[in-house]
Amino acid sequence: MKIALSGIKPSGLPHIGNYLGMIRPALRLADSYQCLYFIADYHALTTLHNGAELRAHSLSVAATWLALGLDPTRNLLYRQSDVPEVMELAWILSCFTGKGLLDRAHAFKDAQAQQREISAGVYTYPILMAADILAFGADVVPVGRDQKQHLEMCRDIAQRFNHVYGDLLVVPEALIQEEVETIPGLDGRKMSKSYDNTVPMFLPAAQLRKLVMRIQTDSVPVEEPKVPESAAVFQLYRHFVGAAEAETLANKLRAGGTGWAVAKQALFDAMETSLGDARARYLDIMANPEKLAEILRDGAERARALAGARMTRVRRAIGMGLLA
Ligand code: TRP
Repeated sequence: MKIALSGIKPSGLPHIGNYLGMIRPALRLADSYQCLYFIADYHALTTLHNGAELRAHSLSVAATWLALGLDPTRNLLYRQSDVPEVMELAWILSCFTGKGLLDRAHAFKDAQAQQREISAGVYTYPILMAADILAFGADVVPVGRDQKQHLEMCRDIAQRFNHVYGDLLVVPEALIQEEVETIPGLDGRKMSKSYDNTVPMFLPAAQLRKLVMRIQTDSVPVEEPKVPESAAVFQLYRHFVGAAEAETLANKLRAGGTGWAVAKQALFDAMETSLGDARARYLDIMANPEKLAEILRDGAERARALAGARMTRVRRAIGMGLLA
């Protein structure tokens, strides 16, 4: 079976954008791929410098994967920081990564444009991400559109390495679901922790409803026709219901006489229907930290065995150790 691998950075609570853009499509691969899903906690360290929070978010992301249906016995769930082989490979790969390549990274260029202080961690982020992927020989990487460039960089780095040492690294393909390219947040911009416009995954129903009611809309009066596709509330709604149901609401909005508040209520109801059970499972998992820790320990052990086998070959090829 081919390997699918992806990670989520626990820099905040997992949100609906993570779910629609990545987790849900990734879980659909479970029958046709060997799935390796992980918590990119070292990546979160680029922005989150609070140990207790980082640890809490990591567990929350792990519980989210499980609550949404990841089967940790058939698939693999692990924390990046539990697999030191990844960090080792990151250094090796950094010696095959041109400075020019890193200079072109969107994330780095954005940080620079906003005159934010840039750590070496932010700058070399794409190398660690390449190591995440290449250490496991992943064939496909399901990600949101925003990660496309990182995947191209990963392929570039793998090819440079392979050019010197032969085909030791698998050059991965990005798997981007076109229909979930961009998930809008509360203000209509891409849902992202950096814009502070996210809808967290498993809020209590009352809080979720409040947040959904805060989604920005235009000020077209109730009685007038609206353009559903232009509104974040409808764009989100579409992802939680079938095509027919989405069309029904769209037609009502287009006809006039239906206000955005109705659309928001419909979105809230649809979210409760598709995520209510998962929320109950999430709360249950979070209430049993020992069991969660055991799942992550087991995941770490199996992940290390996988990455370790490839690293033995990589080390030998680059000239480490005594035996060729
Ligand atoms: N950079 C990704 C994000 O911000 C998270 C990530 C880290 C990742 N390593 C990865 C995704 C490896 C896929 C594969 O969303």
